Amino acid sequence: MSTILIIDDDDQLRASFEKLLKEEGYRVETAPSGETGLKRIEALPPDLVILDMRLPGINGLETFKRINALDPKLPVIIMTAFGTTETAIEATKMGAFDYILKPFDIPEMLDVIRKALDAARFMHSPVEMNAAPDNTSREGLVGRSKPMQDIYKAIGRVSPTNATVLIRGESGTGKELVARAIYQHSLRADKPFLVINCVAIPENLLESELFGYEKGAFTGANHRRVGKIEQANRGTVFLDEIGDMPSSIQAKILRLLQEKSIERLGGRDTIPVDVRIIAATNRDLEGALSEGRFREDLYYRLKVVTIALPPLRERDGDIPLLSEYFLARAAADFAMDNPGISKEAISTLSDYSWPGNVREIKNTLQKALIFNRGAPVGPEEIAQAISNADLNTAKGLEFSEKAIYRWVQEALTTKGTENLFESCMDRFAAILVGEALNLTGGNRSRAAKLLGLSRPTLHAKIDKYGLKFETSVSNPSSKT
Ligand SMILES: Nc1ncnc2c1ncn2[C@@H]1O[C@H](COP(=O)(O)OP(=O)(O)OP(=O)(O)O)[C@@H](O)[C@H]1O
Ligand SMILES: [Mg+2]
Repeated sequence: MSTILIIDDDDQLRASFEKLLKEEGYRVETAPSGETGLKRIEALPPDLVILDMRLPGINGLETFKRINALDPKLPVIIMTAFGTTETAIEATKMGAFDYILKPFDIPEMLDVIRKALDAARFMHSPVEMNAAPDNTSREGLVGRSKPMQDIYKAIGRVSPTNATVLIRGESGTGKELVARAIYQHSLRADKPFLVINCVAIPENLLESELFGYEKGAFTGANHRRVGKIEQANRGTVFLDEIGDMPSSIQAKILRLLQEKSIERLGGRDTIPVDVRIIAATNRDLEGALSEGRFREDLYYRLKVVTIALPPLRERDGDIPLLSEYFLARAAADFAMDNPGISKEAISTLSDYSWPGNVREIKNTLQKALIFNRGAPVGPEEIAQAISNADLNTAKGLEFSEKAIYRWVQEALTTKGTENLFESCMDRFAAILVGEALNLTGGNRSRAAKLLGLSRPTLHAKIDKYGLKFETSVSNPSSKT
């Protein structure tokens, strides 16, 4: 459970904020001033700080500076009223994660909180290399095959340099995990690590997200915004799915790599920045080059230091190890006993081609554990889990994402829906919660774990959506 510290002198706001965040399943601590807040940080420490700008005693900006000096990796979200946006912007320039304007839009605020906690998790949870399969308490890169040994060596070689690194490999091969391992073993491990997913952010927003903008740069740019690259100054930026980056932005990234500076949108100043770039892609960059979708100059600049992750089917001997590891992790995650796995099941796993790579084997073991009817996990449960796993392969994901896009577009063009956002989110959440209950045979604790929700939050959602689940269903997998 993540701990959030709220620093604000307004008692009422602190109380209502605390209530709201507790309902979301967070542990909440509060402090009425910068001084007490700093003490709480040293005593706790929290995973995230939400900091008001207008404070008695030392002001918000000064408090931020001191927090940042104490722990530059602790994400801080600034709360600000209209009149104090300038200092909030100042704080983001110095590395604050983001700022939210009073009065708050609650869903938006919860979204920023989730993102900040994700970023904190990335920075703090260490990725161990060549991890033992029974090590479930930490995240690790598991595998002892020759190709994986070479990957560990490459990570060891590139980490302590400031070199730009390009990580390549099919979907699910562990590119993100490798990026985090490089960061954690780098000289910048005590500085921020920010992730930008070039596909997840709509094209028209990606540029301002990365580079920021000046007031008046475009309609709606009511105040200056500092981009992620500037915010990560002295740290590391992970550009995930760089093969999908629009070419106008590719040009700016090239310039960043060559000249170590950026310009905000609509700005005339050249701002020097010192960031290390780690990029990843599962795309055929050479194909994109010849089709003119990827810039040649950027391609050559990026590929100097490349780490290429082999697909799982080429890592002889890693499948038994990974299977044990993910089974143990799933058991720990769902608070279940680890039933172990039979030799026959391992050989079924070894015979499969794993188009979705490590992600697919991870999901398969999770499902096999849920389907498991006796100890240890046998080949039947594996076969059932694999045939159920299409959704987890790269293709399956792409397909389901397209379906979601279609659904969203339809919703947006259907006139006359009040609260469109809320009603779409509710529909989606109802399906998600319903399926999680199906998959776990109606076990609410396991469904809550699976969804990453607290039990009370799950209960509230079940009530809200009027979900009923017959616990007598004998085969929970029949619906999925
Ligand atoms: N060698 C490994 N050992 C343990 N876990 C791994 C390993 N490789 C990948 N994983 C796990 O598999 C999942 C997928 O990995 P990751 O997200 O890094 O893949 P990716 O290459 O970035 O995929 P995509 O191209 O789809 O983004 C994650 O849950 C990750 O923790
Ligand atoms: Mg990835």
